[in-house]
Amino acid sequence: MKERLDLYPVNNSILNDAIDRIVVKLHGLNKKNGAKTFLCTGAGANGGTTTVALNIAISLAEAGWKTVFLDCDLRKDQRFKRIGTEAKTSLTGFLTGEVSDYNNIIYNTSVDNLDYVFSGEKNENPVRLLCNAKMETLLSRLKKSYDFVIIDTPPVSITNDAEILIPVVDKYLIVVCMNETTKKQLVDSRIQLGDYEKKFAGIVANKLGIMQYKGAVKDFDYFSKKNLLKKQNDAIERKKGK
Ligand SMILES: Nc1ncnc2c1ncn2[C@@H]1O[C@H](COP(=O)(O)OP(=O)(O)OP(=O)(O)O)[C@@H](O)[C@H]1O
Ligand SMILES: [Mg+2]
Repeated sequence: MKERLDLYPVNNSILNDAIDRIVVKLHGLNKKNGAKTFLCTGAGANGGTTTVALNIAISLAEAGWKTVFLDCDLRKDQRFKRIGTEAKTSLTGFLTGEVSDYNNIIYNTSVDNLDYVFSGEKNENPVRLLCNAKMETLLSRLKKSYDFVIIDTPPVSITNDAEILIPVVDKYLIVVCMNETTKKQLVDSRIQLGDYEKKFAGIVANKLGIMQYKGAVKDFDYFSKKNLLKKQNDAIERKKGK
């Protein structure tokens, strides 16, 4: 019996609302085109791709969709992954042939409907591993068993790992970090992945300040308890004043 991985969903309603906006788009693509495998990459390093990808997976799972999160960042050691559980089996193990049954690299998590595949040991030659025909086999098997497969990859500005995987996924997203990712990085990423324009699902603007978010989604707090109470009290006051 494999260990269960503890994941902690975000408790911030604004952040959850922002993630749900992405999930609505993915859900639409799933319904419209049957898209199931979504790859997330960054236009620059440290912009929040992994955080966004994991929270998309949690949100889909919490909505009742059978979801698996596939960590395809083979360049980072497990100890830099903010995950407490040590992976005994992993994607690397499957791709190198050490683990023959893909079911053995799938871990349950504390979030209902969400499973997790660890990347495994840091690998010196991820390009060759990701090009491996087994990767395609794995994705087609996961597609049969899950409603959604969310794939996390390193940024395109540093590696071409995402570029290797995009041909074998349905759609991809680019995460940019507001106030950090440069316009050039974003343009370069779009050019680099230009051959796969039909698979491009959009850009996620991450790490917006609250005022920037308000600028993008004006009445994002319209349904907050505080706002609704104020509306209710104003209406009562108006009635009293009649
Ligand atoms: N929306 C956000 N608000 C605040 N902090 C965030 C947000 N998104 C990510 N972070 C923080 O930014 C840091 C980098 O996040 P993360 O590891 O997800 O980035 P990444 O793009 O996957 O990095 P890498 O390029 O190394 O793969 C983490 O400390 C994470 O907690
Ligand atoms: Mg990452």
